[in-house]
Amino acid sequence: MPAAHGSRLIRNVLCQHLPTIERAEGVFVWDDEGNRYLDGSSGAVVTGLGHADPVVLAAMAEQAGKVTFTHRGAFTSRPAELLADRLAELTGMAGVWLVGSGSEAVEASLQFALQYWREIGEPGRSRFLSHRHGYHGGTLGALSLSGHARRDNAEALVHDFLGLLAPWPYRYGAGRGDAEFTADLLAAAERAIVAAGDTLAGVVVEAVGGATGSVVVPPAGYLPGLERLCRDAGVLLIVDEVLTGLGRTGTALAVDHWGVRPDIVALGKGLGAGYTPIAASLLNERVLDAIAAGSGTIRHGHTYAGNPLSAAVALAVLRRTDELGLYAAARRAGERVRAGLADLAARHRLIGEVRGIGLLWALELVTDLEARRTDTPPGVLSSRMVAAATAHGLLVYPSTGGINDAVTLAPPLTISDDEIDLALGALDSALTDVEAALAVQPAAV
Ligand SMILES: Cc1ncc(COP(=O)(O)O)c(C=O)c1O
Repeated sequence: MPAAHGSRLIRNVLCQHLPTIERAEGVFVWDDEGNRYLDGSSGAVVTGLGHADPVVLAAMAEQAGKVTFTHRGAFTSRPAELLADRLAELTGMAGVWLVGSGSEAVEASLQFALQYWREIGEPGRSRFLSHRHGYHGGTLGALSLSGHARRDNAEALVHDFLGLLAPWPYRYGAGRGDAEFTADLLAAAERAIVAAGDTLAGVVVEAVGGATGSVVVPPAGYLPGLERLCRDAGVLLIVDEVLTGLGRTGTALAVDHWGVRPDIVALGKGLGAGYTPIAASLLNERVLDAIAAGSGTIRHGHTYAGNPLSAAVALAVLRRTDELGLYAAARRAGERVRAGLADLAARHRLIGEVRGIGLLWALELVTDLEARRTDTPPGVLSSRMVAAATAHGLLVYPSTGGINDAVTLAPPLTISDDEIDLALGALDSALTDVEAALAVQPAAV
């Protein structure tokens, strides 16, 4: 065994010691030494339904007893058909293509966009525009859209689609009101769209920025404005809702908050909710009809896509989400989280901003509140916060883009008020610990 790594399993940080997970239930997970942690970020914003939901586990066992795999080229299956129907109903989209991960959903969305233009006789439209600080996945097409530290290693193979400033008021909008900031963002977006001309296939954005900067909620007018620009230019609007879709923000899609209707939507994470790897690319009528009227054939796909076991599990996740009224629960719980985080911000100078929507929240961490900056390299403060919160029994998720420090609080949508208070108490203690280590003075109360 390689001594420096202590394991044959390759981890993201090779020499990092990680606890071994033993079991999980509801919002809690336990390691093999009996330590309990509150899953305050639903893993990487995945386990929206909480762990070990008995109805989902029963559906999993029932489907496993019938058939777990068949190739989609040979058979369709009832769970996959029903899942597609339900997703279309929830989102208003016309067709559903199932895949295995969020990155695959983004890749498929790009390929559908390229196919759309080929089918209608404009194959020259092969470029995309995305936000300079976004994350769309770890595959090469998705990294081409991602302004994220993970891009560096693949730079030689990826495209530069990062033509749009991220709609991030705290970082880029200081000194301007939302209306002025939005107008500036949209004017710049319009210039980028015009400059791309008839090479542009579509604009690809997260509805709410997730992994890169942590919960970057755009100003209210931004996405509707971007939708208008796409419509005027005739290009496709592709929205990545892998992190935000299916209840995380309190609605089926986050874009529902702003009345935006994308041409293509990518879903992932919350669709399988940690019970199975599954994701989807959803097409509206414009795109699906063009393909149906053209070649009628999809020339991509992945072996495990739409397998009956994953489809049955995801269907059970959606049904449970309905039964438990989790969209409304997310909005209610989110309000308690918002108030609790605002209270923490009033007492901790380390918190530069509290931002969020639904049950998706982040704390921006700074050492200089007035200048909105840290005096440590990006990632240091957020790593310390994650470690301190973990020591107090709370799992939170750090910003990973390499540009700022923030932690995401996005617990399962099933979380109770008492569990929220427990999480807030752990965050309070963790902030106190990190501030003490940095010798940051607490805010005057
Ligand atoms: C918005 C967004 N899109 C795509 C992905 C990629 O999903 P996956 O890691 O399942 O491939 C992520 C993952 O964090 C994401 O946050």
